[in-house]
Amino acid sequence: MLFFAAFPRVSHGYNTLRQHKKRAPTGHFKYLDVIVSDSRSTSPLRSVVSASASSGSGLVRRCADPEANTSSTPNPFRTNPGNTCPDDAPVRQRTMAMVYTQEEIEAKIQSVPNWYHRIEVAPSVVTPGINDTPTYFGLFKFPENCEGMRVLDIGTRDGYFAFELEKRGAEVLAVDYFPAAKTGFAVAAELLGSKVTHQQANIYDISPAKHGTFDIVLMLGLIYHLPDPMLALDICRKVCRGNLYLETQVIDRAFLMKDGSFVDLASLNPELAAAPIMQFYPGDSLNKDFTNYWAPNEACMQRMLEENRFAVTRTVSNGPRALFECAVIQDAQLERFNKLSRGLV
Ligand SMILES: C[S@@+](CC[C@H](N)C(=O)[O-])C[C@H]1O[C@@H](n2cnc3c(N)ncnc32)[C@H](O)[C@@H]1O
Repeated sequence: MLFFAAFPRVSHGYNTLRQHKKRAPTGHFKYLDVIVSDSRSTSPLRSVVSASASSGSGLVRRCADPEANTSSTPNPFRTNPGNTCPDDAPVRQRTMAMVYTQEEIEAKIQSVPNWYHRIEVAPSVVTPGINDTPTYFGLFKFPENCEGMRVLDIGTRDGYFAFELEKRGAEVLAVDYFPAAKTGFAVAAELLGSKVTHQQANIYDISPAKHGTFDIVLMLGLIYHLPDPMLALDICRKVCRGNLYLETQVIDRAFLMKDGSFVDLASLNPELAAAPIMQFYPGDSLNKDFTNYWAPNEACMQRMLEENRFAVTRTVSNGPRALFECAVIQDAQLERFNKLSRGLV
């Protein structure tokens, strides 16, 4: 059985996956988990791959032609002259075709020790990420058509969001302070035939001078990892010419108590939910993770965004998390005081 790395997004094939909420109400890692209900195997990876073997062959064969419906250029990878790729199949997904056997795909997936995202890297073959990424992605209202847009995905990890917006037509720069080969990004990009550019960089090193500006900036699951969240938002504003999508841990429904338990912020005092406040996590006190620093309440996140000249257009509360969709605004006074505070005037 051969699989083609670049394929149209015809089916998610998540029927073998079941989502579960765990008890600890914090963080991506703790909140969502997955088990595989395929009784043919006890190995999650093997189950996902074998599901593709039984159900995906028709899809692979039909869409084997990376040039189908896009060009009359002969395709060196074409194996099926009767190719019937649908007209609406994303063109970008079919621009680079590599052929892999099922075993090769499995080996590549297994070469990544810790998948975070669940990425469909071949028809019905989903990487065993601990984060229910397709559901998470569905919470956002991204433009359906991103043709002509530049997108910056900061803290991209395995790259799910970068790859999805690439499929919608965007030119994407994915940044993470880990190299692509240390996450699932390199493997996923290869299997998907993605052209997303990955750059190993710290958010604090991003600038318009080095990176230009972007129509869409993604800052998902990142701000609570940052010691200086206001500086990070300032950087996002400088490189954003359109919309910012931000997702984060929030304390409204998960204020961390001294004994390690979580409570509703309003249960401590009803006024706290509306007051813009953040909780600091010394050491590894949040989720035993030394890279967790701060989490705001939703009111605070909104005010911090506004202070950095983003108007919040949509907010979605999601248990211990929340997402904020924003549009850039101009405000000369805020900009002046921001520069003053950073020694820039
Ligand atoms: C929780 S993951 C979020 C992944 C993805 N954005 C999502 O929401 O599913 C956080 C990612 O941010 C990266 N990261 C953390 N601090 C960073 C920093 N200062 N600069 C760049 N990337 C950072 C981590 O390496 C990790 O890949």
